[in-house]
Amino acid sequence: MKKKYSCQAAVAPTDQPEHVSGFNRTRSKLSFDRLVEMGAKMGMINPLFACHERAAKATTQVNGQEYLNFSTYDYLDINAHPEITALVAETARLFGTSSGASRLVGGERPQHRALEEALADLYEVEDCIIYVSGHAANVSTLGFLFSARDAIFHDGLAHNSLIQGARLSGAARYSYAHNDCDALEGMLKARRAAHKRAAIVTEGLFSMDGNIPDLPRIIELKKKYDCMLMVDEAHSLGVLGKSGRGVREYYGFPSTDVDMWMSTLSKVLCGCGGFITGSRELVEFLKYGSPGFVFSVGMPPVIAAACRKALEIMLREPARVHRLQRITRFFLEYAKSKGLDTGAAQGYAIVPVLVGDSMVAGFLSTALFKRGTYVMPVTFPAVKEGTARLRFFLSAAHTEEHVRQALDAVVEELPKAHAIVEQYQRDHQNGQQ
Ligand SMILES: Cc1ncc(COP(=O)(O)O)c(C=O)c1O
Repeated sequence: MKKKYSCQAAVAPTDQPEHVSGFNRTRSKLSFDRLVEMGAKMGMINPLFACHERAAKATTQVNGQEYLNFSTYDYLDINAHPEITALVAETARLFGTSSGASRLVGGERPQHRALEEALADLYEVEDCIIYVSGHAANVSTLGFLFSARDAIFHDGLAHNSLIQGARLSGAARYSYAHNDCDALEGMLKARRAAHKRAAIVTEGLFSMDGNIPDLPRIIELKKKYDCMLMVDEAHSLGVLGKSGRGVREYYGFPSTDVDMWMSTLSKVLCGCGGFITGSRELVEFLKYGSPGFVFSVGMPPVIAAACRKALEIMLREPARVHRLQRITRFFLEYAKSKGLDTGAAQGYAIVPVLVGDSMVAGFLSTALFKRGTYVMPVTFPAVKEGTARLRFFLSAAHTEEHVRQALDAVVEELPKAHAIVEQYQRDHQNGQQ
């Protein structure tokens, strides 16, 4: 029989023989097993790894059923646009689906430079480098540019890829309290002088909380303390500003105030990969040295072509950006009017509904799925213990009716999810299984 959910992650732990060098007894594996076991005892279905049967847009299809979808990064509703699919088919006919080798040794295709030039133009900077993964772009760039004598100051909620990059570099890593520029300045004052070079790293729109950093102040600090500044626009490109040009347009400062603009190609640009834009020297240095570029295959030309076309559509049709901004504002206002906790969200594409306990978030997601809404929980360790949430990603194609339907269901299901988890905890404390 066909499975209702695909549940790769939720396999009950087996009694496998223990090997000293295996991972079965590591702390993270044990806590993962405990979570899976608890979920199974409480009758929770694993909401992860659902198989979608068509492009997941404002609505999606799973197991032949239609769902409202709040888990897509297709913020501007551009994925599967007919102009993109036609171009991809034509590009695949001419270039196939792979670059075959690293661009350094295997050479380039016209789509590579065309996309890089379009992105450099977008940011009004000299040049751009594209990587085959957004995560790899951050890891490889930070890991390559900085070393043990340097320091990286990053927001406490910086994306995993930024933290992994900072770790790989061997630089001293200073994590300042989320979105707290006074805390950042305190750290810079205390620690900057001890290091040769330094970078401040932030996101343009925070992917967990849906809030925006005080970039004008961060730019002031970077100048005062002689640091490079890297801004990850994974969630702000296409989302912030009148025409979707991101956090720079939102605040209105020159793009050269930031040394490295990074974003992914996997969100509004409907492809896969990431990029860094900045000075010609920086890009050249990365192209000849950054391991994730040098030792990794070039981006498939079909993807580069798709992303460039998506960018063209985004710039040609700013009404998509306005629709996204309007519907997210409505979402935020409606959620607040229903007494839901939306944390620090400012109403731009991402709105979390905080529920506290990780199991409550899991149950709530399952309950909503049963009622036709697909939205994923974010739980510890991705967020601090006690701040688990459902994270809603909005799309320009969502309607007010979609929002009401989803949030009314949250309001009804949230107390039930709390009750189930509280009951489980009481039973568990009493030793019942
Ligand atoms: C802020 C941020 N940076 C980088 C990435 C990695 O991008 P990708 O998923 O395209 O590899 C993500 C992914 O969600 C992200 O949210």
